[in-house]
Amino acid sequence: MNSCPTPPGWVVNRPAPAYHLTTMISPESLQIVLYPTPVLREQAQPIEQVTDEVRAIVDRMFELMHEAPGVGLAAPQVGLPWRLFVANPTGEPEDDRVFINPVLRDPTREMDEMEEGCLSLPHIKGIIRRPIGMTIDALDRDGQPFTITSREFDARVWQHEFDHLDGILILDRMPPIDRMANKKLVKELESARA
Ligand code: NI
Repeated sequence: MNSCPTPPGWVVNRPAPAYHLTTMISPESLQIVLYPTPVLREQAQPIEQVTDEVRAIVDRMFELMHEAPGVGLAAPQVGLPWRLFVANPTGEPEDDRVFINPVLRDPTREMDEMEEGCLSLPHIKGIIRRPIGMTIDALDRDGQPFTITSREFDARVWQHEFDHLDGILILDRMPPIDRMANKKLVKELESARA
């Protein structure tokens, strides 16, 4: 209870400003960031609302992914700690798809191993063991929910990109023998940034 009237122009208990994901980001300025840029190790945050700004960034991410070229690119890889990634496992234009606030579920018990690389870890490759199949729930570029289940290459791309949203890199998942084989390249990346 406050019996004193608030003097004009004073704000009592002003709430913290709402956290807006998109403040002054110009999509053209975004570039792929390389390990060990700290954002690659962060826990990314959900997108509150799929706005035109988010869509403009998604478009830029598709551009960067195709230029690279790559089959997937996660927002932390362009310096944004957001839960979103773009993917295109075939390279066909109609297969571009964005996954906003994705959730992976129902992994198959069946696993397989495949060599993976990462646009943020140039020249580094490792054999990664993952479930063959997965279901993913996400929002599309209009903010509409969708669900896909796959036992194809898509499911592997989703898992790789989803890892980025939790700060996980292929370096963490590759077997020790591959980590040893890549040791020099990793050191080079680390000293390039130091
Ligand atoms: Ni990657």
